Amino acid sequence: MIISTWEWIRLLGLLAYFYFTISIIFGLLRKSSFIKSHKNLIYHIHQNAGWLGLITVIAHMVLLLIDRYEPYSIVGVLIPFSANYRSLPSALGTIAFYLFLMVIMTSDLWIRTMNRSLWKKLHFLVLPAWVLSLVHGVLIGTDTEITLIIMFYVISGGVTLLVLVVRTLSGFMKKVNFPMFHNN
Ligand code: HEM
Repeated sequence: MIISTWEWIRLLGLLAYFYFTISIIFGLLRKSSFIKSHKNLIYHIHQNAGWLGLITVIAHMVLLLIDRYEPYSIVGVLIPFSANYRSLPSALGTIAFYLFLMVIMTSDLWIRTMNRSLWKKLHFLVLPAWVLSLVHGVLIGTDTEITLIIMFYVISGGVTLLVLVVRTLSGFMKKVNFPMFHNN
């Protein structure tokens, strides 16, 4: 089946959002006190999904430069609020991209040369990045008209928020020394 460049752009956008969501969910799970086993596997899923998300979003952006349906310039893609097409939702995508890029670079490439607490603060910027990418996809995507895609956003958003709440709660329980959440 041959699909157009614009359809590839849409597919890659959805895929990038999916990979980033998986990376965040597994990242949050990894440090949750109620997860006792398979920590290595969870870490590898977290790390690889992040890289796959980055590669996919770069392909999403490169195809926008090639496609002639809604022509984007390199400035329009890289500088927030400079795109002619849907300036605000496009800018949200660009800002999300820079945040994801920074989080992945500081985690995998520069972590050894960085102060740990600064790294941790930067790493949590992945949450606003994810929110921006979700809002970007919902506002700009043609597929937001499709019920199945709306369900995909609702389920992925809901699961991520749930895991975030569980992780925050388990962190709190651990702090107050609640026995069930105390790691040996
Ligand atoms: C982390 C960064 C990004 C993510 C996760 C992302 C994700 C998405 C998603 C989920 C969609 C919806 C696809 C659909 O409904 O079929 C989408 C569509 C789109 N994105 Fe992105 N995107 C990102 C960055 C960007 C950037 C930087 C631009 C350009 C400035 C951009 C331009 C577009 C356009 C024009 C569409 C509309 C395609 C359509 O008609 O559906 N995206 N993106």
